This record gives sequence, structure tokens and C-alpha cells, in this order.
Amino acid sequence: MRNLASRLDLIAPSPTLALDAKAKALKAAGRDVISFGVGEPDFDTPEHIREAGVKAIRDGFTRYTPVDGLAELKEAVCEKFRRDNGLEYSPSQIVVSNGGKHSLYNIMLCLFQPGDEVIVPTPAWVSYGPLVTLAGAAPVLVKTTAESGYALTAAQLEAALSPRTRGLIINSPSNPTGLAYGPERLKELAALILKHQLWVVSDDIYEKIIFDDLQFCNLPMIEPALRGQTVIAHGVSKTYAMTGWRVGFLAGPEKVARSASKIQSQTTSNPCSISQKAALAALNGPQDTVAAMARAFQRRRDLLLKILAEIPGVSCVRPQGAFYAFPDFSAYFGKRAGETLIQGAEALADYLLDKAGAALAPGGGFGDGRSLRISYAVSDENLARGLTRVKAALADLK
Ligand SMILES: Cc1ncc(COP(=O)(O)O)c(C=O)c1O
Repeated sequence: MRNLASRLDLIAPSPTLALDAKAKALKAAGRDVISFGVGEPDFDTPEHIREAGVKAIRDGFTRYTPVDGLAELKEAVCEKFRRDNGLEYSPSQIVVSNGGKHSLYNIMLCLFQPGDEVIVPTPAWVSYGPLVTLAGAAPVLVKTTAESGYALTAAQLEAALSPRTRGLIINSPSNPTGLAYGPERLKELAALILKHQLWVVSDDIYEKIIFDDLQFCNLPMIEPALRGQTVIAHGVSKTYAMTGWRVGFLAGPEKVARSASKIQSQTTSNPCSISQKAALAALNGPQDTVAAMARAFQRRRDLLLKILAEIPGVSCVRPQGAFYAFPDFSAYFGKRAGETLIQGAEALADYLLDKAGAALAPGGGFGDGRSLRISYAVSDENLARGLTRVKAALADLK
């Protein structure tokens, strides 16, 4: 058989989705497995949103829509940015796609090309690097530290710049660390971004899951001069517990939106018509479920930190948003349980899955092999049960 395209050798399958599949297979085989691996809220999509989807089907709203999304949905997206962020967009600057990940892929294809470098502060979501690579550009991974709460500093950004640097990806609140950038840090970065005329890809998908009364902000909110060189990737997946519906959107300069729409017209066409109606109900409907979900995640964050604090040798930067924590477990590397040697995060994740029935994502895929990511989008009960088992399994390592 002929070989497949060489670009396939450049990327690996999403490790978090692979972990989820492994945990599900063990569960199907009858094991009591608590999955801390998934990146989706454990809540149901709110009733009024589901009803809007059902109504769309009943009404026969089942045909192609405009490639870049329904006009009223793009209006609702503009209104969301006006209401929540004080950002003015016209519908011609919005493209609705099949999830935030699809929006990001369109953005990368529009902004970057071979020869370009794109700065990705790490720890970072597993897909940024592969998305940049698929666009033919080179991700430049810049390691941030626990000392700065994993925020990229201006000095780190400056040191990573080269004549080829074309853009920077910022994700706040962050997957996997829970970092939420404040205005001061963003201002520092903004000055450099303007000086070097970089594209900003602002992944705001966790905007609404933010704790301790912090106010969400992004670069174009802090520095209006950046609005012409920023593209926001967003969507309804996390805010409204709509991961399966697949609706995301981008907002940016009109030429970017037009280009993303052109790509979409030749690849996927419009996102699902029914899901778009549901997303419209989500954006225009009551927002009380959003705040209730964020409160539940904050409560779980507190519970998680309390249990982690009881585990010797584990340190964790306090998450300020999203529903992930990224504790450092490296104190357990080099230890053994019988014949099993824990060489690193991968081995520890395997051990915890096997011994504690707890699925945690090893940190290597996020750019930091000392940590494991814990998604606390699980019930309070499972969170406590699972982490108590993790604690016991770690205590057995000598
Ligand atoms: C940081 C980040 N961005 C984007 C996405 C994409 O979300 P979706 O494609 O489900 O809208 C995810 C999902 O896990 C994420 O964690």
C-alpha cells in the first residue's frame, strides 16, 4: 500500500481523549474508575437550551444554514461580546464553527504558514501545538513557572521572540493550570505584542468559569489598540455544558472572518443547524445556570485543594478558573510499588489508574512532565472518593 501523507507524522492523537477512552474501557469491563481526565462539565445542558434543539427538529429546521452561522446567532454573539466584554463587533467579524477547537483550527489556517513561529506558553492545552503544526507553522513552547502562577511574563515573551515570530496564543482561564490573567500582566504583554506586531489568538472558552470574584479580562479589553490584531476563539461548550452540540465561534478583524468562512465553505460548511438554534437559546436566554455552575466548580476547587494539601510532597498552584488543577507529583518519581518503578508522570498515571481506579492526565502532553492534570468536573462525592484513593495509592509508593 502507498504511504500516507507525511503531515500525519507531525502530530499524535489527543492524549486526553486517549486517556478518556482507556478509563471508559475499564469502566465498561466493570472496574470502579473515577475519571479526572475529561474536559467537560458533568452538568446537563440546561433545559431551555435542550428544548430549543428539540423545537428546531420539530420545526424541520434541518437544512443548510449560511456557512458562517445563522444571522441571528452571529448577532447574539456580538451582543455577548458587547455585554460581557465591552467589545464591539459586527456580524461580519464573527464565524460560527463546529466547536471552539474548529474555530481555533480555522484561525491557525488563516493566520500562520510555513516559516512562521507561534508562541505557546506552557503548560498549555494539548491541541495548540498540533493545530499550529497542521497550519505548517512552528509552535515555540515557552515554559512558564509555578512562581508566576504559570503566567507568561514579558521577559519570557521577549526572550522567545525571533524575526519569524508571527503570533502568540493566550488561554485564560487556562487548561490545564486554572491560571486567570489579571490586567497588569496582560498590560505588560500588550506593550511587547504591539511593538512586534504579533497576532494574538485569545482562547476565552473558559471565560465564565472564574473564581474568587475575579473579573475576566483578555488582551483586547485591556489594550484597545490590539483589537485589530486579535482573534478570539470562544464557544458554548464549557459555559453552557454543551460539549456534544459542537458550536464555537471566532471574533476578529473582518478579513480574518471572511477567510475563515472561505475555508469553512470548502471543508465543513455550516455547523449543525439544530445546535445553532440551541446555542442561540443559550446566549440569549437566562444566564443563572452559568453562575451556578461556576459556584459548584469553585466549591470543588476548594475541596480538591484541601485533599491535595494532605498528600505529602504534592504542590499545586491555586486554580483561579476553568475546572482543572495541575499539581506537581514529581516527589513520587523514582519510587516503587513492588516491581513497579514510577519513572515519571506517564508511569504514575498508569499506576493510579490501575491501583486507585483514578484517571489523571500525565502532564507531558501539556508541556510539563512533573505534573498530572486533574479535571474536577466530577461530583463532589466522586472527587473526594477518587482523591482519597489517590492519596492511599501514593502512600504505598516507597
Ligand atoms: C483550552 C481549550 N480550548 C478550546 C477547547 C475546545 O472546546 P470545544 O471544541 O469543545 O468547543 C477546549 C476543550 O477542551 C479547551 O480546553
